[in-house]
Amino acid sequence: MGQQKRWLFLLAIFACLLSFSSGSRVLKLKSDDGRPVYNHTLAITLVEYTSAVYMSDLSELFTWTCERCNGLTKGFEVIEIIVDVEHCLQAYVGVAKDLNAIIIAFRGTQEHSIQNWVSDLFWKQLDLNYPDMPDAMVHHGFYSAYHNTTVRPAVLEAVKRAKKSYGASLNIMVTGHSMGGAMASFCALDLVVNEGEENVQVMTFGQPRVGNAAFASYYSLLVPNTFRIIHDHDIVPHLPPYYHLFPQKTYHHFPTEVWVADLSILNIVLFGVEKVCDNTGEDPTCSRSVMGTSISDHLTYFGVELMGETWRQCNIVVGREMESYRRKDSKGNIFLSRTVPSMEVIETKSPSKTRISSL
Ligand SMILES: *[C@@H]1O[C@H](CO)[C@@H](O)[C@H](O)[C@H]1NC(C)=O
Ligand SMILES: *[C@@H]1O[C@H](CO)[C@@H](O)[C@H](O)[C@H]1NC(C)=O
Repeated sequence: MGQQKRWLFLLAIFACLLSFSSGSRVLKLKSDDGRPVYNHTLAITLVEYTSAVYMSDLSELFTWTCERCNGLTKGFEVIEIIVDVEHCLQAYVGVAKDLNAIIIAFRGTQEHSIQNWVSDLFWKQLDLNYPDMPDAMVHHGFYSAYHNTTVRPAVLEAVKRAKKSYGASLNIMVTGHSMGGAMASFCALDLVVNEGEENVQVMTFGQPRVGNAAFASYYSLLVPNTFRIIHDHDIVPHLPPYYHLFPQKTYHHFPTEVWVADLSILNIVLFGVEKVCDNTGEDPTCSRSVMGTSISDHLTYFGVELMGETWRQCNIVVGREMESYRRKDSKGNIFLSRTVPSMEVIETKSPSKTRISSL
């Protein structure tokens, strides 16, 4: 009897929450005042793209046949994979026809244990003036990971190639997790400021702060269609720290945060409640209302795993069949490039299968 009552009670709460969350989603669309609207479907799609960039088998990634290259990302065509072996960075560029968009995805850090990387984040200095933006300061390391490696030239060249093959009207969606989110935001800003791109949107997952308040203001003017998703108690978005007594001097997130708080009953996570936060970047009622204490929240977003199969290495695997797409520079960095849209890679990889299916 008591047991039954308790279940009824939980069911009632559950029903209330469901109606509440769907109700608020409708309200959000209505009360919008010219600010870009957060799109949940797009978020759960881009998190899958972000998850795939962690895969180390480049052949499967290039042909989009990896185990994470499925679901909402089906049919994606990779144009370029970049592995900066020197700095242990990985990124790809490709075209999602269903989204009418070029997708650029950056991997998070892979070379140390995640715990070490997170504890280093406490001490990152604002030690670089962002070029041509008075008073804007950023962290040199995050900036350089995008701007001073093989990543930037390869990404920009691949975007040009994609537009040539698939049409100039494609939108550009830039995404990444953790440090990959930091790189995604520098990349998007670069595309707008230096490449004159107009339809650039950004969605990052668990990204750290990258610059100060002045940087955040420039950023949000130039790349307004940006959403930083934060999962519950994820520690990384709380770093490097924000000191609210010195708002002009410390790190400061750019808008717009979307905080996904886990709603659990009896320790079972039922679903995430999404809150689209204010336009300051540092909404005190969102993730800042809780302590950033969780590394496991950092590694899963919308139930999708965001990490490599292994830590502490920068290993990659490239099959022989990729030889014609593969290029290596003098420093050992690896690129896989496709010049024209084609399906020939998949066909040469499994000729027997192709034959069977055509019978
Ligand atoms: C949200 O994004 C999806 C693609 O992921 C798109 O099909 C849909 O039209 C978008 N919704 C709105 C309201 O823009
Ligand atoms: C770029 O990297 C090189 C070494 O890889 C370094 O000497 C140079 O100072 C860096 N430039 C910037 C602006 O960080």
